[in-house]
Amino acid sequence: MINPLRGMKDLTFDESNRFVHIVTTATNVAKKYGYNYIETPILEETSLFKRSVGESSDIVGKEMYQFDDKGGNDVCMRPEGTAGIVRAFVSAKLDRQPMKQKFYYYGPMFRYERPQKGRLREFHQFGCESFGEGSVYEDFTIITMISQIFEELGIGFDLLINSLGCVTCMPPYKQNLVNFLTEIKEDLCEDCNRRIDTNPIRVLDCKNATCQSLLVNSPKLIDNLCDECDSDFKQLTQLLDKAGISYQVDTNLVRGLDYYNKTAFEFVSNEIGSQSAIAGGGRYDKLVEFLDGKPTPAVGFAIGIERIMELVQMPQMQKEGIYLGAMTPEAVEALLPIATAKRKEQKVTVEYASKGFKSHMKGADKVNARYAVLIGEDELKDGTLWIKDLESKEEKTIPVETF
Ligand code: HAM
Repeated sequence: MINPLRGMKDLTFDESNRFVHIVTTATNVAKKYGYNYIETPILEETSLFKRSVGESSDIVGKEMYQFDDKGGNDVCMRPEGTAGIVRAFVSAKLDRQPMKQKFYYYGPMFRYERPQKGRLREFHQFGCESFGEGSVYEDFTIITMISQIFEELGIGFDLLINSLGCVTCMPPYKQNLVNFLTEIKEDLCEDCNRRIDTNPIRVLDCKNATCQSLLVNSPKLIDNLCDECDSDFKQLTQLLDKAGISYQVDTNLVRGLDYYNKTAFEFVSNEIGSQSAIAGGGRYDKLVEFLDGKPTPAVGFAIGIERIMELVQMPQMQKEGIYLGAMTPEAVEALLPIATAKRKEQKVTVEYASKGFKSHMKGADKVNARYAVLIGEDELKDGTLWIKDLESKEEKTIPVETF
C-alpha cells in the first residue's frame, strides 16, 4: 500500500465536508467585502519567494520545496499565497490601473517543516489581498472580515496586533535592538545569535523560555514608531474598541515573513495545542514595488484551513433530494429518465439493484434523502410512482408525468 508523504494528508469524508464548508463560508463573506477570485500557479520561480518572503526567513531558509525542473529552472512549490498574487498583479499590469483591487484565493501551500499536530508539509489556506488602499480603515476592515468568517464558522479566537513600523522608524529601531541583543548575546540561544545578524526582529518571537525572559526589557518598536505609524496604530485600536472587537497588543508579534510593515496581526485559538495561529496577516506596502510594480499599498491575510477544521461547527444536515428505487428488475430502467429530469433541480440517488421495500427505505435513510420514490410491479404497469415524504411521513401514488 502506498501512503501519502509525511506531513501530507488526504481529505476524505467528514474532513472534506468541513473543508468545503469553510471555503464556502469564507468565500461568501469575502464576496460581501468586494473580493474577486484569483488563481495563481503552485509552482513559481524560487527567486520570487527569496525576494518577497525574505532570504533570512525560516520559510525560505529551511522550508522550501525547491528543485530544478527538467529545463534547469530553479523553481519552488509556493510556501504561501501572497508573493504569487503580487507577482500576478504586477504581471497583469494591474498596478497601473487606478481602481483598487481585491482578491480572495484558497489552495495548497507547501513548507518542509517538522510535521506535528497542526503543522503539515502540505496545508491549505484561504486568503485575501487588498491592493491600492493605504488607509488604516482597510486594516480594520480586513480584521472585521476575518472576525466575521470565524463568527459564521462558530470559532472563538484571540486577536493579537502589533505595528512593525515603516522605512522611517524600523531601521533606527533595528539598530537599537541589535545593540541591546549584542549585550545579552551569550545568554541567547543559537538561533537568536544567528538572527542578530540576519533578521534581529525575529529574535523577539523566539519560543525559548530563557530568551523570552531576557527579552522582557528589550526596546519595543511600539514605543519607537514614527508619528504616522503611531497615529495609524492608535486609530486601529480605537476602531477595534468602537466595533467591540477585543484584541491584545503583542509587541513581540513580528510574523515569519519579511514583507510586512505597519499593522501585523494573528488570530489564535487556545483549543488546538501549540500550533495556535489560525490566521495571520498584515500590511505590506512595499512588496508590489519590490517585485517591480508601481508603488501600491496592500494588506491581506490567510487562514490555515486544517488548523480550524476541528473547531468548525458544522450546520445540521437537512434531509435533501430524492432516493429512487425499483422493486422489480423490469422497473430499474424506468428510473433513469426520471433521475435525469429531476437532477436539473435537485440531488437524486438512484439504486440500480432491484430490492425489497424495507431495504430501499434503509437506503433512502442512509443518504439522508427527503423523498423515497419507488416503482414496483403495479406502478410500472400503471405508469405511476410511489412517493414518501420522509420528513412529514406523507405517502402517495402519482402518475409519472406529474412528478
Ligand atoms: P502565515 O502566518 O505564514 O502567513 O500563514 C497563515 C496561516 O497558515 C497560519 O496562521 C496557519 O494557520 C497556517 N499555516 C502556516 N503554516 C502551516 C503549516 N505548516 N501547517 C498547517 N497550517 C499552517 C502567510 O502565509 C501570509 N501569506 C498571510 C498573508 C496574506 N499576509 C498578507 N496576506
